[in-house]
Amino acid sequence: MVYNPVMRKKYIAGNWKLNNNQKQTSELIAKIIAQGGGFKNADVAVAPPFTSIHAAKQAIGSSGIILCAQNVHFEEKGAFTGEIAPSMLAEAACTAVIIGHSERRQYFGETDETVNKKIHASIKAGLTAIVCVGETLQEREGGKTNDVIHTQLSGAFKDVSDLSKIIIAYEPVWAIGTGKNATTQQAQDVHAFIRGLARQKYGASADGLRILYGGSMKPSNAAELLACPDVDGGLIGGASLIAEDFCAIIRLSS
Ligand code: PGA
Repeated sequence: MVYNPVMRKKYIAGNWKLNNNQKQTSELIAKIIAQGGGFKNADVAVAPPFTSIHAAKQAIGSSGIILCAQNVHFEEKGAFTGEIAPSMLAEAACTAVIIGHSERRQYFGETDETVNKKIHASIKAGLTAIVCVGETLQEREGGKTNDVIHTQLSGAFKDVSDLSKIIIAYEPVWAIGTGKNATTQQAQDVHAFIRGLARQKYGASADGLRILYGGSMKPSNAAELLACPDVDGGLIGGASLIAEDFCAIIRLSS
């Protein structure tokens, strides 16, 4: 069989978490547009808090930055106080949503089952789902990394029949917000493992699947991480809050 390597456009997403009110959102996006260099060679996304989505939309204008939400509920409507439906995100101009971030799993009780429901609901609403997986330090040290990733992916992708609206983010929990990133070898190994699992289930379309690395990615380590053959971009927390750093990573990905 002839293996055809697929060119995967890099995807650089800023996960702002609980940061940036509307004014700060407008200012940060204006700086990213001014310094980002056109966003031609990489897809660039920002994920502001819900209340800043409208300000982000205004600031993004026609720049081509992708507007992403940080979370979504799986129901379309009803008595779910505090929740937001996928179609509401789409209406607010979001085209992507982060699902199953480890902070959501750790602090807000998300499980592989809710992640799965959210993926289905988001795809139905036309959103791209950026699905996060990753092991804790204890799991890594116990040699369980691949098992954990396998379990998370099996649960998350139950009855998901195609990958066209899917991006996966590998985020080792021990690397998030700690300043301690995975080595290129650790990242590449897990990314290749994820792509292998995707290939088993989805065949050749796994070659087009973008798998992002997340966990203390910054200008000083982005080049080597992004050079790994199966690392197709970054999901960036802390460094995405500083326009200079975020734009430096965008440039390194091109
Ligand atoms: P970090 O966060 O870049 O601050 O480690 C990444 C993430 O949580 O997505």
